[in-house]
Amino acid sequence: MGTPQHRATDAASPAVAAAVAAARAPGTTDEQWATLLARFDREIGRLQRLFGEIYGAGERTDAELALLAGQLATSWQERPADLQELDAAREADPSWFESNEMVGGVLYVDRYAGDLDGVRAQIPYFRELGLTYLHLMPLFEAPAQNSDGGYAVSSYRAVNPALGDMEGLTALAADLRSQGIALVLDFIFNHTSDEHAWARRAQAGEPEYEDFYWIFPDRTMPDAYERTVREIFPDDHPGAFVPIPTPDGHGERWVWATFHSFQWDLNYTNPAVFRAMAGEMLFLANRGVDILRMDAVAFIWKQLGTSCESLPQAHALIQAFNAVCRIAAPAVLFKSEAIVHPDEVIGYISPQECQLSYNPLQMALIWSSLATRDARLLQQALERRHTLPPGTAWVNYVRSHDDIGWTFADEDAAELGIDGYEHRRFLNRFYVDRFPGSFARGVPFQDNPRTGDCRIAGTTASLAGLEAGDPGAVDRIVLAHSIVLSTGGIPLLYLGDEVGQLNDLGYVDEPGHAEDSRWVNRPHYPAEAYRRRLDPSTDSGRLHARLRRLLDVRRTTPELAGNRLVGFDARNPHVLGYQRPGEDPDGRATVVLCLANVADEPQGVDALTLSGMPLEALDLVTGERVGLREGLTLPAHGVRWLRTVLESGPADAPVQKPDS
Ligand code: GLC
Ligand code: GLC
Repeated sequence: MGTPQHRATDAASPAVAAAVAAARAPGTTDEQWATLLARFDREIGRLQRLFGEIYGAGERTDAELALLAGQLATSWQERPADLQELDAAREADPSWFESNEMVGGVLYVDRYAGDLDGVRAQIPYFRELGLTYLHLMPLFEAPAQNSDGGYAVSSYRAVNPALGDMEGLTALAADLRSQGIALVLDFIFNHTSDEHAWARRAQAGEPEYEDFYWIFPDRTMPDAYERTVREIFPDDHPGAFVPIPTPDGHGERWVWATFHSFQWDLNYTNPAVFRAMAGEMLFLANRGVDILRMDAVAFIWKQLGTSCESLPQAHALIQAFNAVCRIAAPAVLFKSEAIVHPDEVIGYISPQECQLSYNPLQMALIWSSLATRDARLLQQALERRHTLPPGTAWVNYVRSHDDIGWTFADEDAAELGIDGYEHRRFLNRFYVDRFPGSFARGVPFQDNPRTGDCRIAGTTASLAGLEAGDPGAVDRIVLAHSIVLSTGGIPLLYLGDEVGQLNDLGYVDEPGHAEDSRWVNRPHYPAEAYRRRLDPSTDSGRLHARLRRLLDVRRTTPELAGNRLVGFDARNPHVLGYQRPGEDPDGRATVVLCLANVADEPQGVDALTLSGMPLEALDLVTGERVGLREGLTLPAHGVRWLRTVLESGPADAPVQKPDS
């Protein structure tokens, strides 16, 4: 081993070592510098390999890497001291986010709280719920009317002035952290708005910035690409490209826009784009963001003749961003937003790529099971697709700010005799109330008669039956949340759902929103429902009390941490079953058996099925002792979290093996 100064040289090219050395600031102590060089030493080889995979080995790539390395060294030295301490603490405790005390919430700053000060004023309520993670929806400068809910970013370094400013955001991040709440912001790196400075310069014809986007002079290349790509927002525009004026204003050319016409996809074949976006990412990291929600990960790499989704280079790019953080902001985690086939979702999840990921399969199948009153697809998914690599976790959720897409695997469904296409059609009809007897009041999103594709928008309460006055509504909402709260990972609440907030049909009168039905499930702060939350004679009160109870139980139930889950075959298609092995607070080997009845009538689990269990269990939710000798009956939509203490056998021996 050489001196610290030489270590980065060992792992990388002399140009990289020189760029790092040149970036040392006068105030940096020897200890800080050694810490930084050790991180370079660990990561630079990987970064170099990834750059080679993405851009090809060669002088230009080496030069880009050297520029990036200098940028990283500068960025970490500029990182505030408290965040540098957090870097060290999280490096020493890399599984901090796997605790059963983690609970997330998500909100729109303007709609829920008015502005950043309004968010701060809600911190006592977040503490009441036990939140340790707060996702603020995109709050950056964006086009005035329609900005896709902030997902069209005009500057990553400026807060939308209606919400506050960067100083306010930095202060809020620190306040939240002091209260044990990690700040989650989006990293919207697939596209910028057409008002971003880079886009304006591209529109003006500056070649350096034209190279930041996918701009073509005519339809030749767009036609070629569109032969194999999906339409994501067909209501907005067909295909993946939109016309824009030539710089002289007289002609027309075409730019790649996967989402809305004003969201231009960045061109990551240009290494300058990676460096620029790494700079924006670290700028946010140094303001105190703990977790970056990596938006639209599947779309960041395009290649002619392919679907242009989830290509190998997309993974290499995210891994390269991950390496950037490991060097210059190691406290920061990534959460993947891949709402695609489960085989593709899992591809983004690893400690070297995204440590966290939405779990869209669980989300979709919770809704599927409530509609069909049949838990088998969800049961199969939990047994087959729930396990994750060490050092990673799911973010489990009942619904998000977006639509619900039915992203289950058709091949899994086929094993249960379910035709995927027909099942999606059924679910779409059911959730928009076009199916006789449906309790749901959702609305269609991006109904595409040409492809038969359609997704669902609606709040949890409206989808679960509260709007329709269905007597099972509150129970269904509790059931849905009980699953995301007990299957491990980080449960994420859409704030407002915990008081039964209904659809907001007023969105059609809001400027820029009428065309996007997802606004139906992004209502304003439901002040009335929150006032009723302590009144047990109301739906809001009943719901809130029951969810609070589940949240409190989760926090004190160590078995619910981590990701280990073993299926439990309740031998009843209406009853979902799974076991969370672990240790109770007294250190005894235990299993928490979770059961949920998705049917509208009581359902039983018979004595034989429970015969492998101890004679008695503790219902963690009610605090009652429950005898298991005679079998169990669950009321309609009933949920039980049953802790059994194992009399013998190791802590990791579940009471029922998956195949028994
Ligand atoms: C993500 C967001 C969605 C947005 C899209 C484009 O999927 O969740 O709201 O429309 O990205 O940024
Ligand atoms: C967002 C959109 C959804 C789309 C997905 C693709 O989630 O809301 O409609 O399918 O992005 O990633």
